[in-house]
Amino acid sequence: MTAVPSLSSSVHQRLSAALAAALPEAAGADPLLRRSDRADLQANGLLALAKRLKGNPRDLAARVAAEVDTEGLIRDIEVSGPGFLNITLTDEALVRTLAGRAADERLGVPFAAAPGTMLIEYSGPNVAKEMHVGHLRSTVIGDTLARIMDFRGEKVIRRNHIGDWGTQFGMLIQYLTEHPGELDHEGGEGAGEAAMSRLGRLYRDARAVFDGDAEFKERARRRVVDLQAGEPEARALWQRIVDESKLYFNAVYDRLGVLLTDEDVVGESAYNADLAALSDELEESGVAVRSDGALCVFFDDVRGPDGERVPLIVRKADGGFGYAATDLAAIRNRVGVLGADTVLYIVDARQALHFKMVFETARRAGWLPDGVAHHLPFGTVLGKDGKPFKTRSGETVRLMDLLDEAVEHAAGVVAEKAPDLPADEAAARARDVGVGAVKYADLSTSRTRDYVFDLDRMVSLTGDTSVYIQYAHARVRSILRRAAAQDTPAAAAHPELALAPAERALALHLDEFGDTLEAVAATYEPHKLAAYLYGLASQLTTFYDQCPVLSADDAATVANRLFLCELTARTLAQGLALLGIEAPERL
Ligand code: ARG
Repeated sequence: MTAVPSLSSSVHQRLSAALAAALPEAAGADPLLRRSDRADLQANGLLALAKRLKGNPRDLAARVAAEVDTEGLIRDIEVSGPGFLNITLTDEALVRTLAGRAADERLGVPFAAAPGTMLIEYSGPNVAKEMHVGHLRSTVIGDTLARIMDFRGEKVIRRNHIGDWGTQFGMLIQYLTEHPGELDHEGGEGAGEAAMSRLGRLYRDARAVFDGDAEFKERARRRVVDLQAGEPEARALWQRIVDESKLYFNAVYDRLGVLLTDEDVVGESAYNADLAALSDELEESGVAVRSDGALCVFFDDVRGPDGERVPLIVRKADGGFGYAATDLAAIRNRVGVLGADTVLYIVDARQALHFKMVFETARRAGWLPDGVAHHLPFGTVLGKDGKPFKTRSGETVRLMDLLDEAVEHAAGVVAEKAPDLPADEAAARARDVGVGAVKYADLSTSRTRDYVFDLDRMVSLTGDTSVYIQYAHARVRSILRRAAAQDTPAAAAHPELALAPAERALALHLDEFGDTLEAVAATYEPHKLAAYLYGLASQLTTFYDQCPVLSADDAATVANRLFLCELTARTLAQGLALLGIEAPERL
């Protein structure tokens, strides 16, 4: 709290700095300012500080209260309880600060103090297979983090580490060789979904022959060898399967409105050429050792139920490379070649041990400095029965079906709110609302927790949903439109006015936008932004109830309230955009 606050600092930050200046010996201590119902903010940090300085917390608090430079910032400061400070800000400081924010395109959100190169890996679906809800979570969380980090001025590299390699391709390629028409099609509408159903059929048919015909199995096995050796026909068929899958992935990304493109796809296969040298290097340096013919890395703290150490297998006994080798090559490339100083893996919690072993191996090999790689695990999506989300017949839920269903639900809400809308506009709005609801339900849950997939709750107009926030945004936009159409004073900050309680509450909440994004970036937790936006929408609702805008008593109050409305609308829209959720002008 020693940094000199810039003009775009929040009132909150300026207050922290003023408190710090009143207590020079407390350099670096956090005053722990929190919103309070006794005052605007309460500082609880003096308790810990008094302990450290071996002083009396109430005395310390009294000294700060007496010496702090109120600078037009603080209206009232008093000691309470065992050594808390209750602080009330001046209305003027609040409105002036917000006016400064409003003058900035970025709403005064500061850039990261030391931006770097941040590689964010997310989505990672598997070729020739349906994406499942786990991939949905990864895609939605990763995309939000990429947007937020980019907004903060980090150089963001997005990576989609698709599963496009492995022995299963031998089976698919061999089947295609023997049934050349299997993937033929005419293209056209719904190409992504059609591609997936063709791939699904290919997979099923190939599997059936593979399981029932020993000779086919042998032919398939030889095709794996061909593929790995780069034999042109095998390679071409493999490419066809990959391309077909990308059609499907892109259709899902498009539907979801995420940023991923083909340029971000660097799948497992991309690292093939590195694997032989990589494993030799690990063996020569002694990081990996031979065990039963395989090349392995061992860890004292990774053991099976029998107490035996469970290794990370770099190269199998038959000479083949698997998932682990690819991830080692990927991390070496990301840090060593791409120069990433932060690498985030948005992958479900069940792969935690895999990443622990991969990171530790890369660290031992000297490819990965401490603190660079982070596995950001997430919890499971559950059905209403509390078990992992599956269809009634126990299959993985098709993502497209799920999004269709959400949009259908949303169409009901839109029809209720705006019954006279032309059909195409209603459809567009239902899409924004339905897809947004699915994303928001995911992002508003703290990342590591499981959640229940319940469309009725997700698309509800009340409660902690994106629809509620989108609706608040549309409502405030409608007031601004009405103001523009009438002969009302233009929105303008009036710091000289005394604020009503609901105006102060709204203003204090607006003040926290930049700090919230900072917290999201520090902990990689988008749910803090979701909670912030829900809080803002709620404050706005109270403000409407208590403070007439267009019919306020005098011109200055109208202008000031319109100013608060406008800043709230922009903050809601910016926040939703960072979550990857549309903010329609009307709902
Ligand atoms: N394809 C994997 C799966 O479906 C996810 C990829 C995870 N990323 C990685 N670098 N291993 O489980």
